[in-house]
Amino acid sequence: MRVAVLGTGIVGRTLAGGLVAHGHEATIGTRDVAETLARTGSDAMGNPAYPQWAADHPDVRLATYADAAAGAELVVNATSGEGSIAALSAAGAENLAGKVLVDVANPLDFSAGMPPSLFVKDTDSLAEQIQRQFPDARVVKAFNIVNATIMVDPSGLPSDHTMFVSGNDADAKAAVVRLLEEFGHTDVIDLGDLTTARGPEMLLPLWLELWAALGTPAIAFKIVR
Ligand SMILES: NC(=O)c1ccc[n+]([C@@H]2O[C@H](COP(=O)([O-])OP(=O)(O)OC[C@H]3O[C@@H](n4cnc5c(N)ncnc54)[C@H](OP(=O)(O)O)[C@@H]3O)[C@@H](O)[C@H]2O)c1
Repeated sequence: MRVAVLGTGIVGRTLAGGLVAHGHEATIGTRDVAETLARTGSDAMGNPAYPQWAADHPDVRLATYADAAAGAELVVNATSGEGSIAALSAAGAENLAGKVLVDVANPLDFSAGMPPSLFVKDTDSLAEQIQRQFPDARVVKAFNIVNATIMVDPSGLPSDHTMFVSGNDADAKAAVVRLLEEFGHTDVIDLGDLTTARGPEMLLPLWLELWAALGTPAIAFKIVR
């Protein structure tokens, strides 16, 4: 499958690398290709600048959001929550129409420092905001409740775990469940329509507290039933 992964951060890179490892084609989308390729140093989390990562991943192309989305069969939103609508607008509604749009982003608001709060919750979600803005895209919320490494390789977890999908389009959700299963997520719960994305997005404050309490981001949720 030809996948556009919008986002040059650790999530976009890891998902793109994981997709290629599983036989898909991945193009990463960014605002300004030349600016992204001129970056040096590391980010606040110690991740190397994009060109360093790209040198080790010559099979992943970098393109503008619009170029990446135009050539894709499936699009992943792995941009910052606050930048997601702008990023998807730059990708172009016409390049998202009819396509599965996997929303991995979390609506984190860092404006008051750490820990972040949520800029939308309870009565709405980032996924629903995206769906309203791009009504012809088939938005599926998924992957947002684990860190990037676990998204593509949960084998490092000491026991099994649960992942969720939310979306209004059954076929789009089925495609995302297949992707989750390819990456090794064997317990996937379909929560229902896109309003159910509020729950997984609201898990983020708890996830951040667990990371601090346990001292590792290699954590996941398990629904026992
Ligand atoms: N870190 C994790 O393990 C993890 C786990 C689950 C979910 N998430 C979620 O996944 C998403 C990506 O996280 P991340 O840590 O990889 O990267 P990030 O730093 O949250 O986002 C980086 C990406 O957002 C784009 N961006 C930021 N502001 C923008 C704007 N105003 N307009 C257009 N694009 C904009 C950047 O564009 P440029 O390429 O042009 O710089 C870049 O591609 C986030 O929503 C995060 O909450 C993260």
